[in-house]
Amino acid sequence: MGDKFMNFTTISFDGKTVKVLDQTRLPHEETYLSLSTAQDMANAIKGLIVRGAPLIGVSAAYGVVLSALMHRRKDINIFKNNVLNDIKLLAGTRPTAVNLFYALDKMEKVLGLDTSSVHNLVGLIIDKAKKIHKEDIQMCKNIGDSGESIIPESGVIMTYCNAGALATSGMGTALAPIYRAKEKGKKVTVYVPETRPLLQGARLTAWELSNNDIPVTIICDSARGYVLKKKKVDLCIVGADRIAKNGDTANKVGTYSLAVLAKTNNIPFWVAAPKSSFDKTIETGRDIPIEERDEAEVRNISDKTIAPDVPVFNPAFDVTEATLITGFITDEGIIKPS
Ligand code: MRU
Repeated sequence: MGDKFMNFTTISFDGKTVKVLDQTRLPHEETYLSLSTAQDMANAIKGLIVRGAPLIGVSAAYGVVLSALMHRRKDINIFKNNVLNDIKLLAGTRPTAVNLFYALDKMEKVLGLDTSSVHNLVGLIIDKAKKIHKEDIQMCKNIGDSGESIIPESGVIMTYCNAGALATSGMGTALAPIYRAKEKGKKVTVYVPETRPLLQGARLTAWELSNNDIPVTIICDSARGYVLKKKKVDLCIVGADRIAKNGDTANKVGTYSLAVLAKTNNIPFWVAAPKSSFDKTIETGRDIPIEERDEAEVRNISDKTIAPDVPVFNPAFDVTEATLITGFITDEGIIKPS
C-alpha cells in the first residue's frame, strides 16, 4: 500500500520491510531506505529520515509491525513482551508530535486482543498499521477539501517548515488545501521561510511544491516580518504537532513568532491538522512537551561549523496560543478556536 502523490512515496510496506524516502538527503538525492527492525525505524524517526507529525505516526505503526515480524517465532508471552519493549523504544524517539503516541496506543491495544496464537496477532498488527496508513491518506484528502475554500482565486500563502506530502503518507496537511485549490484552477503562490536549523522549508517544501508546479519563493526566517508587511500575503497556513484542549498549538519552532507577525499585520493565521493531532488529555500549551535537539544542528550548516564553541539552545518546537489562531482546518471541517 502507499499513496503515490506526485513522484514520491514517503513510506510503503512490502510484507517484510518498510521502505522510506530519506528526507535528510533531499533535495539533492531521492534515496529510499529499507528498514527491517523496530530499532531501524526508531533511528529513522529520531534522525528525521522520516519526519512530520502524521508520517511519524504511520512510521511508528510500521515499526511495531517490524517488531512483530522479528519476534513471530517466539512463545506468545515472550512475543508480547518483546513487542511492548519495542513500542517503548519507538515512544522514546520524539516527544512532541502526539500522532506518535496516538498510533502506538492503537498498536498496543492490538497486543491486548484475546488471541492465543502469535500468527493471528501478527496478522492483526499488520492490519492495524495498514489501517492507520490508509486513514492518514484519507485525512489529508479531507483536510484539502475542508481548506480549499479559504484560498482566494489568486492566493498568496505563507507556510512554514514542511507540512506537505513529505510530512504525511498522503497529500499533506497545510499544503493539502493548496493542492486542492490548484486542482480547481486557482492560481496559488507560496512563500516559505527556510526554517532553521534543519531547513525543512528551503529543502523540503520548496522541493515538494516546485515538483508539483506550484510557484514557491524561499525567504530567510528573518525576512518573514518584512514580507508579511510589504508583500501581498493573503493568509498563513501551518501544520501542527499537538493541539491542546484550549487550542494552543505546538509546531516547528518559529511558528509562534510567525503567528505574532501575522496578527500584527492583520493576516489570517490558519492551522491545518487531523483530529488525531488534538490531545484531549492536555488542557493548555504549557503542558505540551517540547523536544530539544542536538546543538550540532544549530552550530553546523551542512556539516560545516558556523559558530564558535559557546552554548547552544535548540528547541525543535514552540507553542502558538489559540488567541493567535484564526481557525483549524481539520479532516472534519473548519473549527474556530473558542
Ligand atoms: O521536526 P519536524 O520536521 O518533524 O517538524 C515538522 C513540523 O513541525 C510540521 O509542521 C508538523 O509536524 C506538521 S506536519 C503535517
